[in-house]
Amino acid sequence: MNPKHFIIIFLTLIVLGESSTNPEEFYKTCTDSFTCGNISGFRFPFRRETDPAYCGYPGFELNCDEKNAPTINIKNMTYHVKSIDPTAQILKIVREDMIESMCPQDRVNTTMDYTLFDYTSGYINTTLLFGCSVSFNGMGIGPTSCDNNGGSTVFFMPGIHVPEGCESGVVVPGPDRFFDLSELGRVLQDGFEVKWKVGDAVCTGCSQSGGRCVYDDDTRLTACGCPDPPFLADRCAGVNKTRVESSPKPSKELFPILFLIKN
Ligand SMILES: *[C@@H]1O[C@H](CO)[C@@H](O)[C@H](O)[C@H]1NC(C)=O
Ligand SMILES: *[C@@H]1O[C@H](CO)[C@@H](O)[C@H](O)[C@H]1NC(C)=O
Ligand SMILES: *[C@@H]1O[C@H](CO)[C@@H](O)[C@H](O)[C@H]1NC(C)=O
Ligand SMILES: *[C@@H]1O[C@H](CO)[C@@H](O)[C@H](O)[C@H]1NC(C)=O
Ligand SMILES: *[C@@H]1O[C@H](CO)[C@@H](O)[C@H](O)[C@H]1NC(C)=O
Repeated sequence: MNPKHFIIIFLTLIVLGESSTNPEEFYKTCTDSFTCGNISGFRFPFRRETDPAYCGYPGFELNCDEKNAPTINIKNMTYHVKSIDPTAQILKIVREDMIESMCPQDRVNTTMDYTLFDYTSGYINTTLLFGCSVSFNGMGIGPTSCDNNGGSTVFFMPGIHVPEGCESGVVVPGPDRFFDLSELGRVLQDGFEVKWKVGDAVCTGCSQSGGRCVYDDDTRLTACGCPDPPFLADRCAGVNKTRVESSPKPSKELFPILFLIKN
């Protein structure tokens, strides 16, 4: 073997070995669908926290705790996942600090990441008012006892309200019909639904072509991970081998090395 060729192969192996995201791994490492905690049917854009980052879209990391409900963090708030509808792209979630009681332990608003999720229809913003020195009887629900804080009263009001005359206000999704305590409790503790907004169009074509959706950190976009070259594409060459015409582009770090050797 020509020593020059040997050096090129040697350096290529080093560079590919160091590359953290070798595209060949994407399809192999990620799964089509998986079970997390006591819920099955998760797939891209979700990934388990223990999976490589490219298996899911940023913001869809799930913490899978054996037989318990999976949890997801949205805007620095932890939610328990109650159910998932992968076809409709709907997740039913409950604030972790409201699992035990519809009175939140953390006096912070429920804030969605609207770049990733939307509420499904059927909800309105609702304000929980704590420690009020004035009475809002007839304007919402309450006063109702909150079991934490030794039974301080709380008012539930449809809409967003400044907590004037109250210690604090917390905005949560509430029911848009039958605004009463049992319906509100159902939304807050059984869970409310959000629809996720990424991955649909690309992933349908990708799985039809025999690939699985992955996240390409270079382009910061959803891509199709394929079992055969090219390992990252819009869709895979799939069973139609006649369409496999291009080999994977050499990694960009290779160019300077090849250039040096040539000269
Ligand atoms: C999952 O486990 C949690 C308890 O951690 C329970 O409340 C929930 O109902 C379970 N969900 C399913 C679908 O079994
Ligand atoms: C995230 O929430 C924790 C408490 O749950 C809080 O201590 C922290 O400051 C929050 N971080 C941000 C960036 O809001
Ligand atoms: C919750 O949202 C309301 C309305 O946007 C705001 O006035 C209030 O300060 C927020 N509360 C917290 C704890 O961020
Ligand atoms: C709740 O209020 C926020 C902020 O004003 C708004 O973006 C969101 O659409 C509202 N949600 C609902 C369900 O009305
Ligand atoms: C396979 O690829 C060739 C060339 O691109 C194309 O003409 C043919 O229609 C494809 N066959 C199928 C079954 O997709």
